[in-house]
Amino acid sequence: MSEEKTPAPGLIPERIREALRAAVAALGAPEEFDPQVTPTADARFGDYQSNTAMVLAKVMKRNPRELAAALVGSVEVAGLCEPPEIAGPGFLNFRVTGEAYAARLAALLADPRLGVPAVAEPKTIVIDFSAPNVAKPMHVGHIRSTIIGDSLARVARFLGHRVITDNHIGDWGTQFGMIIHGWKSELDATALEADPIHELLRVYKSVNARAKADAAVMEACKDELVKLQAGDAENLAIWKRAVDLSLAGLGGMYARLDVRFDHFNGESFYNARLAPLVDDLIEKGIARESEGAVCVFSDGSVPPEEDPFLSQRDGEWGANPCIVRKADGGFLYSTSDLATIDFRLSEWKADEIWYVVGAPQQLHFRQIFAVSRMRGIEAAMTHIPHGSILGEDRKLMKTRSGENVQLADVLTEAVERARAVLEEKNPTLEASEKVAIAEVVGIGAVKYAELSQHRMTDYVFSWEKMLALQGNTAPYLQYAYVRTRSIFRKLEDAVVFADDEVFVIAEPAERTMVAKLCQFGEVVPDILNDHKPNILTNYLYELATTFHSFFEACPVLRSEGVTRRTRLALCEATSRVLRQGLDLLGIRVTERM
Ligand code: ARG
Repeated sequence: MSEEKTPAPGLIPERIREALRAAVAALGAPEEFDPQVTPTADARFGDYQSNTAMVLAKVMKRNPRELAAALVGSVEVAGLCEPPEIAGPGFLNFRVTGEAYAARLAALLADPRLGVPAVAEPKTIVIDFSAPNVAKPMHVGHIRSTIIGDSLARVARFLGHRVITDNHIGDWGTQFGMIIHGWKSELDATALEADPIHELLRVYKSVNARAKADAAVMEACKDELVKLQAGDAENLAIWKRAVDLSLAGLGGMYARLDVRFDHFNGESFYNARLAPLVDDLIEKGIARESEGAVCVFSDGSVPPEEDPFLSQRDGEWGANPCIVRKADGGFLYSTSDLATIDFRLSEWKADEIWYVVGAPQQLHFRQIFAVSRMRGIEAAMTHIPHGSILGEDRKLMKTRSGENVQLADVLTEAVERARAVLEEKNPTLEASEKVAIAEVVGIGAVKYAELSQHRMTDYVFSWEKMLALQGNTAPYLQYAYVRTRSIFRKLEDAVVFADDEVFVIAEPAERTMVAKLCQFGEVVPDILNDHKPNILTNYLYELATTFHSFFEACPVLRSEGVTRRTRLALCEATSRVLRQGLDLLGIRVTERM
């Protein structure tokens, strides 16, 4: 397949824009004027619309309907659209021709990227997500960061960026005083062997409770922490064991979730870099001593409402510094995050760093980004926040006994429930197949429930909803995929489409189907505009419902000739887009269900 033979045709709205650019230039529009084209909400108004005439009328002080009429006469979209129509105050409506859609369908099938353009300027993007705290194990709240971060990484990679995923685990902190004290006083070696994460959590909780009730225990924990930070060999060895065991446990969970990290550079990785960093901040006059601690204060460069180093108390703006060294000499979460930025820029040459971390840490990130700017760092750093997961009572999700819900338990229950649904709907499947399918459906359901929400929404975790076979759920989409595959299993020979095969789009349902398929290339890049995977879930849900309508309206196997070829091509393209789209969400498919 040579490049000349099948030039990857641009996205349809881009081609309309190109034509509009030429047309407005001929009308004397200012050079920087850029026409916009959007999908129409209602198929009666065609497939795409543009407000160009109205916007340009303002700029050029002319009548919008007159400009629209001039554009209709001059915009060159022949071969792509019917002649555009004017609607309302001067909208231009474009209706893509059946031939153009048929050609796009052939191009889509010939394109491994399924019509999604690669970015013109690939960037190196570090994505910081998941990042649970060792010994305070990953609970269901961490699921949001893990699942959203993984999906954004998949999308950015697919678009051609160089993505580096880094799990900034909390493996250094005050909790280790308690862990070490508990390790020495009450560790159950057998339980540790059997389920390390569980036993470490038990120890942490037990010591935490004892320390609250007994000041002497609290003191003992503090002593252990001081010894650890001073490099005591025994305590360092215990810390190392605890971290390694936790990482091994996390590894199992990430494997089950099909989430990969390029690096696990946790907080401890930066220990040696913290003291020099603080010295440098002092030397450059960015940080200064205050009551024994070292802090960064406001430099007054932005209005108080935008200043992360000020906060309002009783109507007065007061200092809200970023502390980088405590009076006792200890370093903080902020200090290691600043050192982390340096490392990612110098070692990995990051152009951008994305932090997928819950909304409560907003101020923390505003502060460290501002300190970085003071240090002359220009790389784009973005906090991508998310809300919480609620229980059916609309409070933060907890177990019956009021504990944090463990992610591992959620996954196990999801797979068990998926298995029960399968038993009911398709009892004839073989046992081993049921096990494999239940895993794909159960994990997929949990991920999709997350990704189909706007990330800032606090959403209610509901097993019934996420596992429903109808509605905007993973099982519904996975089932749509199964349906597309079952068509091809009924055929004797494998269907192969030529790169330049001529299809014919005739029925309205075929048209709606192909139009939806062509939008995949528009939707995927849009996800990164505001880091919202729910743009993709919405699209895939529409794609699946469109497919079901198409399949009902247009018999495939009973049709003939070019109609049959076209319909098979629509099924095949739907199958590939569903599979690729779900893969960008980190969700797998099965051939049967
Ligand atoms: N360990 C932190 C927590 O659980 C999240 C770390 C996020 N990443 C970062 N670079 N600060 O709250």
